[in-house]
Amino acid sequence: MNYTYEQAEETAAFIKPYLEDEAYLAITLGSGFDACLGQVKMTYSIPYSELPHFPVTSVMGHQGILHIGKWAKKHVLIWSGRFHYYEGHSMQTITFPVRVTKLLGIHDLLLTNAAGGLLESMQPGSLMFIRDHINFQPENPLRGPHDSRWGPRFPDMNHVYDSEWITSWSHLAKLLNIPYHIGVYLGLQGPSLETPAEYSWFHQAGAHAVGMSTVPEAIVARQMGMRIGGISIISNVFNPYELTETTHEGVLQIGRASCRERVCSVV
Ligand code: HPA
Repeated sequence: MNYTYEQAEETAAFIKPYLEDEAYLAITLGSGFDACLGQVKMTYSIPYSELPHFPVTSVMGHQGILHIGKWAKKHVLIWSGRFHYYEGHSMQTITFPVRVTKLLGIHDLLLTNAAGGLLESMQPGSLMFIRDHINFQPENPLRGPHDSRWGPRFPDMNHVYDSEWITSWSHLAKLLNIPYHIGVYLGLQGPSLETPAEYSWFHQAGAHAVGMSTVPEAIVARQMGMRIGGISIISNVFNPYELTETTHEGVLQIGRASCRERVCSVV
């Protein structure tokens, strides 16, 4: 599916009446991050099936609901349910919620995910604040016809992830004794996990964590000039001397626990 600017405008026009006249933080929830929803005072919850032009998500742990409400003192718009390349979605579908977010006048975007850690010092459940990414997915979401209303054809990719957010999250994490890392996220197509040789190679290539999302959304948000934050929950850690099996259920379980105890405290 190749979405037009006008379709994103129609979806945004449908959502707009539900928003107050305030600055919002938009959050895309990764696997397990639905555990943070308990902390949000919801005003509206709209199933994706009611949103014009919206596809539905097929992955366990991804609700397919747009939540609007307040989290602590922040007004939040939460995409609970993301579209992944491995589900067969096009890059345009994957990034459609981010396009709609921008047309709602929202500038701040927090992308969250569960990821496989590549550093020996990482523990399952620790956080990684993303400072940069490597696009190792087979496509770029900006490939194809260019509509200049979205932004430049060749967006600069320095400083994609907001450094002030990283500093403030790190500060809070330190204060609260929450284990965290600041690192580079490498995005893959999935859905198979990586072989030991692949994990080792990605680490040598400069990645600190790997996952199957986030990068397309960050590229599109960057094109539109948004302020972007990225937080990974490290759900499993690659150890070449002790190979352990990674399952989606395990990823969700670690993600949910860490989200409740840690992410909610730093954001
Ligand atoms: N690889 C890719 N995606 C992931 C992983 C992993 O090890 N863990 C959670 N998401």
